[in-house]
Amino acid sequence: MPATIIMGGQWGDEGKGKLTDALAGSASMVVRANGGSNAGHTVKTDKGVFKLHLIPSGILNDDVDCVIGAGVVVDLPTLAEELRDLANRGIDISRLRISDRAHLVLPYHAQLDRLEEQRREGEEIGTTLRGNGPAYADKVARHGIRMCDLLDDAILRRKLAIEVDSKNAIFANVFHAPEVDFMELYNELNELAEGIRPLITPTEVVVQDALADGANILIECAQGAMLDIDYGTYPYVTSSSPTAAGACQGAGVAPPQVTRVLGVYKAYSTRVGAGPMVTELNDETGELIRQRGNEYGTTTGRPRRTGWFDGVAARQSGRLNGVTEVALTLVDVLDTFENVNVCTGYHLSGAELHHVPAQLDNLVGATPEWATLPGWNQDTTELRSFNDLPENAQAYIGVIEEQIGAPVKYVGVGPAREQLLSR
Ligand code: GDP
Ligand code: IMO
Ligand code: MG
Repeated sequence: MPATIIMGGQWGDEGKGKLTDALAGSASMVVRANGGSNAGHTVKTDKGVFKLHLIPSGILNDDVDCVIGAGVVVDLPTLAEELRDLANRGIDISRLRISDRAHLVLPYHAQLDRLEEQRREGEEIGTTLRGNGPAYADKVARHGIRMCDLLDDAILRRKLAIEVDSKNAIFANVFHAPEVDFMELYNELNELAEGIRPLITPTEVVVQDALADGANILIECAQGAMLDIDYGTYPYVTSSSPTAAGACQGAGVAPPQVTRVLGVYKAYSTRVGAGPMVTELNDETGELIRQRGNEYGTTTGRPRRTGWFDGVAARQSGRLNGVTEVALTLVDVLDTFENVNVCTGYHLSGAELHHVPAQLDNLVGATPEWATLPGWNQDTTELRSFNDLPENAQAYIGVIEEQIGAPVKYVGVGPAREQLLSR
């Protein structure tokens, strides 16, 4: 009955998709737990590069069942497009199931996301503008439309009419923006729902049955722990819980059923959107990392902010999530550096900080305490065994293990399947 959680330990884009694809080879089910089409998970296989937003990255392994769990918010056009693309590329999509409890992201959520960002003027969060925040807000406020509502036309009509009315009051009176046309939205939704209805089911039952049968299941999180709504850099966070606890909740798995928490971290830091990033490099080194790591958002194409590895954030996410093992990805990106830095603490007004404070104003002016290590100046992309990694790279990995507080079990030296070294 063991379940493994695969979660991001930083600000997202750590390579969760790649690790999920790799570990799915020895699992029979992959469940996506949280987030929506704000996520972009890239997987490189012999069939090419796949960019998945909603469908679990296990789908690229034949014979692995895939589940979109109750904690996910689903944008139907994105889902339909993803299913079409996978089918066109010869992937069997009949293995996908969607939780009847998952909430829908509707066009009015994306519109609200955009309007709210505009209103924040100068204090934008830098969201992906996919409507995720407003959809989760509706869920918590008990205004959500769920996948199960698509299964009954009378219920869908009634609930949607109420929500459209209340959203139109906001559009008209708060934002002075165009209102939503109920019939247009209802028809569009019905059309999109047609191919998706057969996939909707109580997935918590499917997942629990699989666990009872002794299946190995993977829980794939979106985003990263530093974007968590509770323990991230609020308000510069996403609106769900990309944590180990959130993974259980979103997938329908009980905490004692989890035997492994794999924290995926990249060998440096990146962040898309606004919010503090103490180790950020606004210089040539940062640009070099961006170019070598191809650090442009999978979902929005935005250049990602780059910096050295932040041990303070990593320790926080390692501890709060009970990370039992680490996958350190994109190590090859650092192959050409003379020296590499790891931030081991923040200096602020003469004191040293070892956790990220709740009040971000209390982080302004913080500077990193660096551990500087010699680089390895050697191409690692052709290496296929952990022991072949240059000594200096192994020493660097050792420092990162100390920071996170868990052993590194996988090392990424490139985007392809074979460029993942197991230790
Ligand atoms: P996710 O959101 O956590 O799944 O990560 P993304 O897919 O958004 O971003 C990770 C990017 O790094 C993708 O383009 C991957 O193909 C790529 N990638 C993953 N692991 C490695 C690695 O070890 N080295 C290199 N160079 N690229 C990697
Ligand atoms: P994956 O799963 C990186 C960031 C956005 C923004 C903040 C809030 O690919 O790692 P939202 O649209 O969620 O309301 O935006 O969260 N963000 C991500 N950053 N990777 C992601 O997903 C992200 N999903 C959201 O850039 O800063
Ligand atoms: Mg991503």
